[in-house]
Amino acid sequence: MGRKLPIYVTLMMMLALSLVPKPALAGSPVFNVDLEFYPYYPSLIKWDKSPAEFTPPSVCKNCHVKQYKEWTGSVHSFAFRDPVYQGELNKANKAVGHEITRQCEGCHSPAGMVTGEIKGPGNTGLSEMALAGVSCDICHSISGVTHWQTPSHEPENGSFILSPGIENKEGVQLVKRGPIKPHSGCGGGFHECAESGLHLRAELCASCHQVYHHDAHFPLEATYNEWKHGPYAQKNILCQDCHMVDIEGFKHSADQFAKPDRKEYRHYFNGANYLLTYLAAGAAKKAGDDEQAKILMKQYDMAVERLKSAGDLEISPEYQNGRLAEVKVRVKNVRAGHNLPTSLTNVRQMWLEITAKDESGKIIMSSGVVKADGTLPDNSRIFNSDGMGENFHFAVDPWVITSFSKHDTIKPKGYKDVFYGIAAPGGVKSLSIEVKLRYRQADQKVAEELLGAVPKDIELEKVYGLASVPPLPVVDMVVKQSVFATER
Ligand code: HEC
Ligand code: HEC
Ligand code: HEC
Ligand code: HEC
Ligand code: HEC
Repeated sequence: MGRKLPIYVTLMMMLALSLVPKPALAGSPVFNVDLEFYPYYPSLIKWDKSPAEFTPPSVCKNCHVKQYKEWTGSVHSFAFRDPVYQGELNKANKAVGHEITRQCEGCHSPAGMVTGEIKGPGNTGLSEMALAGVSCDICHSISGVTHWQTPSHEPENGSFILSPGIENKEGVQLVKRGPIKPHSGCGGGFHECAESGLHLRAELCASCHQVYHHDAHFPLEATYNEWKHGPYAQKNILCQDCHMVDIEGFKHSADQFAKPDRKEYRHYFNGANYLLTYLAAGAAKKAGDDEQAKILMKQYDMAVERLKSAGDLEISPEYQNGRLAEVKVRVKNVRAGHNLPTSLTNVRQMWLEITAKDESGKIIMSSGVVKADGTLPDNSRIFNSDGMGENFHFAVDPWVITSFSKHDTIKPKGYKDVFYGIAAPGGVKSLSIEVKLRYRQADQKVAEELLGAVPKDIELEKVYGLASVPPLPVVDMVVKQSVFATER
């Protein structure tokens, strides 16, 4: 006891201690983080590194024109260049640094993150592969997932394995994985083919469509879990069956719980983001690329049509002592395979607008009417979530939010009832009620803040023709009218 250790032993011990990886981000006392297993933490991607390189989409296009044209209009192809993303990434970089923005890049441009090419916000000097976001060679190089090994033991933050190819005694070979049984000529001499069951399951999408706080592992976006715990998963109707088919195909999958035919699958990845595709179409037109602008406007139309077919409304009167006292509005999620809305529920806005008028057209009651400054009145019935930081204060930024003070969205094939009190003045015999279920990508102020934060090398006016942020377009998902007698 108390004996001094030889100096070299002390030095060896100090060296050994300094080699133990230090948890750079130690915000998660609840979950174990294996930094050796996840070298890109807080991104949970793993990369089977070999001399086989990633291939940009313009090369795949040579032999797969159809898939390329479908994908190029999708939000996946803009996942990194998206100015709204770049604005938030820039804010994250300033607030917490590149250590944490790796998490974002891991889902918005996986290849650019693992190769170390992307070092922060902005597009300048990046290769086609990095700029291409969620491109062909991301999905078709995914060889497995580590959903059970993640800190939360759920799919999250890019928990997949990228294996673009292998090196063996015949040299370096690219291997692309998909739904087809390999046959001679598969890959056209450019790549080997490997049949992959994973590509026919929702787990392929899960790793990226479960966005968790970078270190507290709180689920900020949980589209996959919403789907998994709902009726579509029970009937094996996958993300692919609604998002990798055209609009008619999606409605068929949703209504009949029936799988599309093999030959119906397309690479549209069409969702709800009509704003981004509209902005991108404007940029393509400005750059003189009319064909690309057309592809993007088709995606725009599809996103609007998808939103218009996702929900439904029922309006009914409630009488008390013979007088009309309340209007009940039932909001139904009829065709979204997950909650409505899903994903960025603390940013997206889906709300009810209601107006009740008397016989002369005079407004007796209204709620949810957008104000002149573009914001919603406080008492609007909105289906969303409110993020909360560690100090229990309201927060929007994903690196701050570690819980929700409210999470109010509608489950797949589920509904929520909303009651509006009504007091018709004496003499009024009937009221005409109009109810709208409305949707937009974000609150006006939030959109202005994000677009105001884009890195300097993305010139909104030059590229997108945006001198300022215009009023955000609103889609009316459902509009219903009814006339009710004030007495019964
Ligand atoms: C696990 C994968 C993943 C991670 C990590 C991730 N995102 Fe995303 N992000 C997504 C997905 C999926 C969407 C689309 C959700 C939707 O459309 O509602 C998205 C959407 C967004 C949008 C909205 C874009 C638009 O045009 O409306 C912004 C902004 C954004 N992410 C920023 C970030 C930032 C900043 C980070 C890091 C702090 C980050 N994301 C980390 C997957 C991820
Ligand atoms: C987000 C992931 C994802 C991206 C990005 C993606 N694919 Fe696919 N791809 C899939 C899935 C899933 C299937 C299987 C669809 C099915 O069930 O038939 C598939 C199928 C395929 C097939 C088999 C034939 C077919 O069309 O079904 C080819 C070829 C293909 N993809 C090429 C491409 C090319 C080229 C790109 C880029 C332009 C691309 N993929 C981008 C996920 C992706
Ligand atoms: C030189 C032409 C050529 C190039 C370049 C090429 N492919 Fe292929 N690929 C083929 C052919 C041919 C098939 C077989 C198609 C079939 O049977 O329908 C194929 C099949 C596939 C399949 C289906 C594999 C399976 O087992 O399900 C995928 C996925 C795929 N390619 C992805 C890609 C991606 C991603 C790129 C770019 C990184 C790419 N291909 C580049 C020619 C090519
Ligand atoms: C490598 C990560 C990654 C994978 C794998 C992935 N996605 Fe995505 N996906 C994203 C990101 C990031 C966005 C949002 C990009 C943005 O808004 O800037 C997105 C957007 C989308 C959207 C558009 C959302 C909207 O608001 O319009 C749909 C639909 C979608 N993904 C479906 C799928 C499906 C289906 C699969 C599986 C076949 C899949 N994704 C696999 C990362 C991924
Ligand atoms: C039964 C059809 C169906 C299935 C299955 C389905 N979706 Fe959707 N998805 C929709 C509809 C309809 C919308 C538009 C309404 C909404 O935003 O919820 C949508 C919207 C989205 C959006 C955009 C959200 C936004 O606010 O911009 C993303 C991302 C998405 N889905 C991803 C997925 C993923 C990932 C899966 C699988 C885990 C999946 N979807 C399964 C029908 C489906």
